[in-house]
Amino acid sequence: MILLLGMMAASMTYTSIKSPTQLHWNHVGPGIWRALIGKKDALNLLSAADAHPLKEGLKKLPKIEFAPINLEQSSGEVFGGHAVARIPLLPDEKLYGLGLQMHGSNRRGRVYHLRMDHYSAGQDRLHAPTPLYFSSRGYGIFFNTARPITIYAGVGNRLGDAGNPPARDRNTDPAWEAQPSSDSVEASVQAPGMEVYLFAGPTPMDALRRYNLFSGGGALPPRWALGFWHRVPLEASAEEVLKETAEFDKRGFPLDVLGLEPGWQSRSYPGSFVWSEKRFPDPAGFMQKMSTNHLKVNLWENPYIAESSPLYAPLKSYFASHTVWLGAVPDLNIPQAAEIVRAHHKKVGTDLGISGYKIDEVDGVDVWLWPDHAAFPSGIPGDQMRQVYGVLWQRELERLFRDSGKRTFGLVRGSNGGASRFPFAIYSDTYDHREYVTGITSAGLAGVMWCAEARSAANGEEWVRRMQTSVLSHICQLNAWSDGTKPWSFAGYEEPVKKAMMFRIEILPYLYTAFAQYHYQGTPVIRAMSIVDGGEEIDQYMLGDEILAAPMFTGEKTRSVRLPKGRWYDYDTGKLAGNGETIKVTPALDKMPLYVREGALIPTIPAQLRAGSLLKNTPLLIRMYGNTFRNGLLYDDDGESFDYEKGKFGWFTLTSDSLDGGKIVRESGVWECSYRTLNWNKISKE
Ligand code: GAL
Repeated sequence: MILLLGMMAASMTYTSIKSPTQLHWNHVGPGIWRALIGKKDALNLLSAADAHPLKEGLKKLPKIEFAPINLEQSSGEVFGGHAVARIPLLPDEKLYGLGLQMHGSNRRGRVYHLRMDHYSAGQDRLHAPTPLYFSSRGYGIFFNTARPITIYAGVGNRLGDAGNPPARDRNTDPAWEAQPSSDSVEASVQAPGMEVYLFAGPTPMDALRRYNLFSGGGALPPRWALGFWHRVPLEASAEEVLKETAEFDKRGFPLDVLGLEPGWQSRSYPGSFVWSEKRFPDPAGFMQKMSTNHLKVNLWENPYIAESSPLYAPLKSYFASHTVWLGAVPDLNIPQAAEIVRAHHKKVGTDLGISGYKIDEVDGVDVWLWPDHAAFPSGIPGDQMRQVYGVLWQRELERLFRDSGKRTFGLVRGSNGGASRFPFAIYSDTYDHREYVTGITSAGLAGVMWCAEARSAANGEEWVRRMQTSVLSHICQLNAWSDGTKPWSFAGYEEPVKKAMMFRIEILPYLYTAFAQYHYQGTPVIRAMSIVDGGEEIDQYMLGDEILAAPMFTGEKTRSVRLPKGRWYDYDTGKLAGNGETIKVTPALDKMPLYVREGALIPTIPAQLRAGSLLKNTPLLIRMYGNTFRNGLLYDDDGESFDYEKGKFGWFTLTSDSLDGGKIVRESGVWECSYRTLNWNKISKE
């Protein structure tokens, strides 16, 4: 026996481990390089999102001649069923991004198993596990794979690597470290290969802009979508919905979008995808009433189809091997299946005037989704499909609205890389207020948007603070599906809630301009401090170019706010708040700590109940802060069609001396002129 083993060992061959080969990078766009390791998967993040670069936007970014990292130090290999990429890292680099994270800012020094799931505390299972990071040195890296991916962010030391620190003796050396520093990021997927993209800066923000523009430019929602959204309880009927909207109007709370939850369908979990005759006997009549009242309607659905649904039979040959709540799962990777789905949504949705969808449960809470080995008829295994299923739904529903000529804005519970152009914000069933605020900041770094919705609260104070946070996120929504909470539910707290909601409407022109910057320039609407100026804060952020938001949390009377370089003013009072310093503030309950940069001109409108039905002669109120004014920016277009893609839009400069009928205005304050008689100079007609 011993002899036999000895003989076997002698006959085995070993390969000594070779260093991975240097990556070969191709220059594929302004400041963008691509490298391929092994063979690329047919389904990847960019193909799932059908992403095409917005070339006009990319051309305007700073010219870059040289790659921002030492390309010679990048490498890749396919070994043991893993495709691996290695990207060099310098000792002082910080890393930001790696998905829609709910904690922390600098991602260096950990391992991330980026997987689509309903978020649960940690950093791996995310509503948007985008394999994208940005370095404080001003570049971004994107791994274009639809597979679950593991990222070793400055973790792991290769044998003999010149960048390794000296190996210390733990017995004797107090400087011994459990986690020796590593000079690279390694990313691995179980796949025959993967593509890697490098986005140059020079700043981290420029790198993010390049990524968003490369993915098609950020989403430009219709103007109405920036108003207030309210979702009614699970089984609300048409009559109850109409009563509820009338109540908003009577009490003077703004409202633009009404969200219907599972009860609009005749059955749910799995769904019928048809209107409930009991609760909505006359969908067209209902929609007509909503439209007359300038309200939009958003429909909830999860994409799992009941056998009794009219969608079931035509889709039959395109279903996956496994079900979700016994509902059949259509393979949207197959064009015929996607077309059937779109045609049905047209018939029961867009033809009636539905303005958008809330695509639920595409992330899964593990047991609630198909297993990793589930088979999809297009040949995609369950684990890959899971990473992009929400992206495929966004793609098809965006296409549906595009075909109808009207823009949409909706909600989705799972997204991923390449999806910047999709007008959907992510939401969650989690409800930790601090995590929600961190989500607002990290969404932009994952190329997605986030809806920090308010649902319920333990007391009036919490309700106000929750609603204020919702107002400061991409979609401002009260999701009352379960609790039935109304903005006015907490007696004695109605006014601060109304004030916050009205603020949302007031800043509409400013917010719409920020969305236009997202679309045309790739600059996210909400910007984490890490990409604004390298700050680590996750409880404050920039909303557009000029406003710094620092939400308050229940039980807190004071908080500190770090004001970046320069002078900053209190949004409400216009008083100087500080100069590049950290301040301590004690805001009253009705106050959201908001600060404006010196010299800003912020376009606003007077508060009103509908953002979407603005009258053409709505006056524009320009809020001016400080003493030395810069030019303010205003974007406008028709607010709902795709004509902006044919050049029908305008960028205007707001100058401090062109307001008030030409009178030179050189004082901090609010100034009025009319939307119609803008005498500002057009910057360009891009
Ligand atoms: C959940 C979703 C909630 C609500 C609910 C309705 O999955 O996150 O917002 O829509 O379903 O059943």
